Amino acid sequence: MKILIAPSIIAADFSKLAEEIKKVEAAGADLLHIDIMDGHFVPNITFGPGQVEAIKKVSGLPLDVHLMIENPFKFLNDFIKAGADIITVHIETVSTSSFKSQLKKIKGSKVRLGAALNPNTSLKKIEPIIDLLDFVLLMSVNPGFCGQKFMPIVYSKITGLRKKFRFDIEVDGGVNSENGSKLVSCGANVLAAGSFIFNATDANSAIRSLRG
Ligand code: DX5
Ligand code: ZN
Repeated sequence: MKILIAPSIIAADFSKLAEEIKKVEAAGADLLHIDIMDGHFVPNITFGPGQVEAIKKVSGLPLDVHLMIENPFKFLNDFIKAGADIITVHIETVSTSSFKSQLKKIKGSKVRLGAALNPNTSLKKIEPIIDLLDFVLLMSVNPGFCGQKFMPIVYSKITGLRKKFRFDIEVDGGVNSENGSKLVSCGANVLAAGSFIFNATDANSAIRSLRG
C-alpha cells in the first residue's frame, strides 16, 4: 500500500496557516490532518467547520478531519458540507449501532467515515463495525495536544488490526523519523505528524524520512 503522509495542522503556526498549508503541500504531503477538539472529550479546543471550509479554499489536499468531540454525529453534516474528505470519529464517543447507521447514511457518497481509537481502547470496541469500515485511526498519544511523547503500545495494535483489516490504518501522535518505519512495517499506511513536520527546518526531507 502507498504510504500517505498527513501533516497535522494543530502543530502549524496559526498566524500564517495558509502559508504553512502551502508549504507542506509543496513538500509532498498526501493529506491534511485537521484535529477538531471541543474541550469536553479532550482538554483542548481547536477548530470547527468554518476553519475546515476556509482550509478547503487554500488547500488542494484531501482533508482528513479527526473529530475529538462529544456527540460527533450531530456535527457530521457540517464537516461534510465544509469539505471534509475523510472524517474519523472516536469510538469512545458513540455507540456501534449509531456508527453503523451513520456508515449506511454516507454509503455511496465521496466522504469516508472512519473509526478512531485512543491508545488504551481495545480493538474489540470496533469489532461490531470492522467489516463496514475502510479507515481506522489508532492514536499513539492521549488526544488533546501536539508535541506529546509517542506511546509504543500502538505497535501491537497496528499488527493486530492489520491481520484482519486490509484498508487504511492511520497513526496519529508523536510520529517521527524514529518510529515511522516501524509503524509502516507493523502495517500502518497513513502517518499523521504535526510537530515533526511543522517544526522541521526542511518539511520536504521530514516528509521523505517518514515515507521511508
Ligand atoms: C493529539 C493530536 C496530535 C496531532 C499530531 O490529540 O491529534 O496527535 O494530530 O501532533 P504530533 O505529531 O505533534 O503529536
Ligand atoms: Zn489527530
